[in-house]
Amino acid sequence: MTRAFPPSGTTGLAHEEPIIFERSVPGRRGWLQPSSDIPAADDLDGALLRQQAPRLPELTEPDVVRHYHRLSQWNYSIDAGFYPLGSCTMKYNPRVNEDVAAMTGFAQVHPQQPGATFQGALQLMVELEDALAEIVGLDAVTLQPAAGAHGEYTGLACIRAAQVACGDARTKILVPESAHGTNPATAVICGYQTVTLPAGPDGLLHPEVVAAAMDDQVAGLMITHPNTIGLYERHLPEICEIVHRGGGFVYGDGANLNALMGVARPGDVGIDVMHINLHKTFSTPHGGGGPGAGPVAVRAELEPFLPRPIIRRGELLELDWDRPLSIGKVRSFFGNFGVLVRAWTYIREIGGPGLEQATRLAVLNANYIRARLGESFAVAFDTPCMHEVVLTDRNQREHGVATMDIAKRLIDKGFHPPTVYFPLVVPHAIMVEPTESESLQELDSFVAAMHEIAAEAAENPALLTGAPHAPVRGRLDEVAAAKQPRLRYDFP
Ligand SMILES: Cc1ncc(COP(=O)(O)O)c(C=O)c1O
Repeated sequence: MTRAFPPSGTTGLAHEEPIIFERSVPGRRGWLQPSSDIPAADDLDGALLRQQAPRLPELTEPDVVRHYHRLSQWNYSIDAGFYPLGSCTMKYNPRVNEDVAAMTGFAQVHPQQPGATFQGALQLMVELEDALAEIVGLDAVTLQPAAGAHGEYTGLACIRAAQVACGDARTKILVPESAHGTNPATAVICGYQTVTLPAGPDGLLHPEVVAAAMDDQVAGLMITHPNTIGLYERHLPEICEIVHRGGGFVYGDGANLNALMGVARPGDVGIDVMHINLHKTFSTPHGGGGPGAGPVAVRAELEPFLPRPIIRRGELLELDWDRPLSIGKVRSFFGNFGVLVRAWTYIREIGGPGLEQATRLAVLNANYIRARLGESFAVAFDTPCMHEVVLTDRNQREHGVATMDIAKRLIDKGFHPPTVYFPLVVPHAIMVEPTESESLQELDSFVAAMHEIAAEAAENPALLTGAPHAPVRGRLDEVAAAKQPRLRYDFP
């Protein structure tokens, strides 16, 4: 038995911080400027001159630095503590990634330089393409898309272009009900209707369900593998065969590749296209739906449709724009190059055996959490999981305590809450993804906090229903915050 550490995260938000305009003191300055020795111009058009000083906060430099530093402490981050957000893979971002991305040759390169002057950058991209193709078992990769959902768009656009090119434009995409919301949304943006497929009682998609939905209008199936419940889709080889026989493609949502890399290859079970969230599996920072990277890997028959330019291999690496079947560009220049450098570094640093070990540890950690938390929480599917596990509030509901209360109480204990109420197919879901980068002690601290919460639910439910108590701001109205954000400061 290892000793559980006290939570290493932060109870953050423990102090109030006025906004910077409220901190302003008239006349306070952050700089000293010598008086000007240049005579004032007398021919300026008075109408253009500002009549009033701009309403900017007046503060000293330390005031400003401390204000923003304090605000930065309000953020929970993977550097602050355990971040068990299911489906989001908040794994540690190694500092060596940052060192390499900051090297002058990578950080200062400009995409409009002549190609011959940034061969190193192109070489890195070629190597990353090859590594990703090898890891997923597919033939070609584009690094252009800026996020997972953007990769989905790119992959589906390639499927559409391929089918249109052979005169077989189709109208429907099959999507299992457990899919991430971005899957049906992407299909609709690409002009398809979605057909929702139910999962079996074991949480898996079954071949007969796919076979019943297949017809000559089905362009393909979009499936997350392992699925968003954290389970390995065991019937994929048969399912892929059914889709292929019906003339469709199988789109694999690779957001959960961290449960497979180095151990199993989606291409080997029949997936034709897959996006890869570098900001999940390959330890690059997450970035609000844009500044990440969602490379897409495809089978050879879809390669001509990938975004252009591609990098033409040879003694000199060159950009090849002459790609008549390409879907065109999906992102400026080459995608988010700095993110690509970080992912390349991660892969080169730990290598094939390291990737495999990371996968095995991620799965082990999730199953450890499943076994330990199963002592006080209901586990949605009583079967070994992959990299994440779904619990519910079923045992706590009799005390009037719900998933949201459990999540909020975790903030008091210094942990970021897990993903809640997702996936939608599990009512009241609490989805925990520990990742491989957490130690046994860290996991035990989390487990201890969750057990404490389960005990509190029985003994003093109000402690949970009123949580969080530690932050100065208690339970926020998240719907109002999302739907009616107040983004303007009203000057008094
Ligand atoms: C299964 C799955 N697919 C797609 C996405 C979308 O990825 P991104 O947030 O990078 O757009 C996510 C993100 O959480 C996901 O979990």
